[in-house]
Amino acid sequence: MHESVLLTESINNLNLNDKSIIVDCTLGYAGHSSQILKQIPNGYLYAFDQDKEAIKEADKKLKSIRDNYEIINTNFVNLKEEIKKRTNKVDGILFDLGVSSPQLDEADRGFSFHKDAPLDMRMDQTQTFSAYDVVNTYSKNDLTKIFKTYGEEKYASSIAEGIIKARANKEIKTTLELAEIIKDNVPEKYRRMGHPARKVFQAIRIEVNDELNVFEKALRDALDLINIGGRVCVITFHSLEDRICKHIFGEVSSTPKELQNLPIIPDEYKPKFKVIANIKPSKEEIEKNNRSRSARLRVIERSL
Ligand SMILES: C[S@@+](CC[C@H](N)C(=O)[O-])C[C@H]1O[C@@H](n2cnc3c(N)ncnc32)[C@H](O)[C@@H]1O
Repeated sequence: MHESVLLTESINNLNLNDKSIIVDCTLGYAGHSSQILKQIPNGYLYAFDQDKEAIKEADKKLKSIRDNYEIINTNFVNLKEEIKKRTNKVDGILFDLGVSSPQLDEADRGFSFHKDAPLDMRMDQTQTFSAYDVVNTYSKNDLTKIFKTYGEEKYASSIAEGIIKARANKEIKTTLELAEIIKDNVPEKYRRMGHPARKVFQAIRIEVNDELNVFEKALRDALDLINIGGRVCVITFHSLEDRICKHIFGEVSSTPKELQNLPIIPDEYKPKFKVIANIKPSKEEIEKNNRSRSARLRVIERSL
């Protein structure tokens, strides 16, 4: 079961009305999409996901509500091109980034360092590049760089060194082999502060799915697709994703610095968006669902 994060807050912030045209970029198990569909009897929902397993379950749920929706089985990097084939502008767009709990629980997807599985971590099972390729072919420098930037891992370099040594003997094929190598290459006291493989696994997942570049492109495209008065809501689980969102929202909601002192700002330089909210989960939600502890919801509205 996937427990949706910041559900009420994100749905309320989409400002739905019965005719709204909405895009859910991360359908998952349709937690958010179900709520959206219930509130837009005369509108339409477009929902993206690249995971066929999730889509099967989500489709059953949505069908039981109504049929004014379409599931688009592709990476949301294709958001603009896919939406433009269907309509010109939309009233709301939601991103609920990351992986769903069932993806983590399905051992054979290779996302979890607790369960033995082939090194995979592809969100799109038709892609060929996987965690196996990152771990067995990247140079020490490249491994260190991704562990540092995508995982904010303090021991990035010694873990990368450990991987290079281990794979010189034999290729690293499974999640538990990798988790063991990570454990052996961090100091004893670090091992007691949460699982030492957590950050490296996250970093490899971001690399395999090119998550940050994909998100940045899709978010900029989302802002182009939104109607005046429409909103984009983004739930992130990682400081780098949140930074991208904060930066882009800041950029489109402010007047360029060099024009800020002008007595009158020409219309074409007036910001088209205003930032509406920046919300963290409540204490109660974090107690109920530990996965929500690092989540953050940012909301922006097109005003011009
Ligand atoms: C956190 S889950 C969404 C859960 C959903 N909001 C719910 O309440 O059930 C994220 C989903 O987005 C999908 N996803 C992540 N990145 C994606 C991308 N670049 N393109 C398409 N789907 C993506 C994952 O496959 C996963 O099913």
